[in-house]
Amino acid sequence: MGYSKNIFLHRRVIKELRAVVKSIRKDAQVMDDFFKYAVLHGLFDEDGENWKSFLRESPRSINDFINRYDYVNVDLLREILSTLVNDNLLKVHKHSNNNGEPFYELVNDFMLPPTPVPNFFGPHVTKVMRELCRGVGSLLRGAYREYTDEYRTFTWDLALTAKMYEVSRRCLLTMLSFKPNTKFLDIGCGPGYSTVSAWRWLYDKGFNRSDSNFPRRGLVEVHGLDPTEEFLRIARAEYVDHLKYMIELFDYYRSVRNRDDLIAQMVEAIQQHPPTFTLGNAEEIPYDDNTFDYALANFVLHWTNIPKVLEEIHRVLKPGGVFVSFTGYHPFRPPYYSWAIRTVKGAHGFIDVRKFEQICQNVGFEKPSYVVPIVRFTILKKKRN
Ligand SMILES: C[S@@+](CC[C@H](N)C(=O)[O-])C[C@H]1O[C@@H](n2cnc3c(N)ncnc32)[C@H](O)[C@@H]1O
Repeated sequence: MGYSKNIFLHRRVIKELRAVVKSIRKDAQVMDDFFKYAVLHGLFDEDGENWKSFLRESPRSINDFINRYDYVNVDLLREILSTLVNDNLLKVHKHSNNNGEPFYELVNDFMLPPTPVPNFFGPHVTKVMRELCRGVGSLLRGAYREYTDEYRTFTWDLALTAKMYEVSRRCLLTMLSFKPNTKFLDIGCGPGYSTVSAWRWLYDKGFNRSDSNFPRRGLVEVHGLDPTEEFLRIARAEYVDHLKYMIELFDYYRSVRNRDDLIAQMVEAIQQHPPTFTLGNAEEIPYDDNTFDYALANFVLHWTNIPKVLEEIHRVLKPGGVFVSFTGYHPFRPPYYSWAIRTVKGAHGFIDVRKFEQICQNVGFEKPSYVVPIVRFTILKKKRN
């Protein structure tokens, strides 16, 4: 098995990412607390699972929970209870039952603060995310939600998502050494910002341009894939506007003397070499085997069936093709958000790193390489036959 060891990452991008993360650290903390307390209120409150009064009556074993609430997802129940012990909300009672199973009880000063709502969550996002968090009880009973258009919430805010997503996209793009006459797939492209971001990146590197005052490096076909029809409609209709909007939003080319001319040339070029947006699920990518040279997934894998998606990405990549991804991994992220994601049918949530590596190797990728500035970026290479 080969190893893709020689990862070259521009320090500048990593530095930039660190700076962004630092600048949004407070926001990110409020967001983590939102998920934590929204999940906990769903589990403990009277209008939720009502664990508080259940545990006030007496210490409880896993079996007590199962019998009282018809829980079937016992692994998740164990995971939740042990997290709550770690987070000092529950303690293990000194006696265990006949099977040696521990009893859980509330800590003496058990109290849940109100759920803090990040100021960058609008009412719609707050409602949708709360519902996901409150679904953890149903998830324990084995019930899932369908992924719906309602979850189109990730354009939450400029402070957090837009800034962080754009930097993490660029970080991922930095890891790809693009060559001319190749094909690039943006998996889970949403309404097209990430695909346009890749297109702009490539343009800066000299691809897909026809202006005479820049070395032309040939073409890289840019494709976006997403299962959400409304996103695809927006992406197809608005990719030119996205390009202009992002240039303004992220203040690109501010020191370029002929900025307006450059932007006009870019607009012309993107119209000449537009990204292609395809409706489809990453678990069943509607492309032939060995189609793409590069694939990228930014903040996507945790919403999918990860083993199936990795298998599919491997299939559509050419031998030697590269896949780069950014997602949350255990044990680097708190689990509450991950549980909320898992209430959606088919969503894996954050994955354990060792399990992820195993899956990658099983489907035929070379051992994943990680870059760990904050969470984890993964670079996978398909073996040459
Ligand atoms: C948080 S957004 C990230 C969007 C984009 N990658 C970016 O950087 O702006 C997650 C995206 O994953 C998409 N998604 C969810 N499940 C998917 C699946 N099974 N296959 C492909 N995309 C999926 C959603 O529709 C959504 O557009």
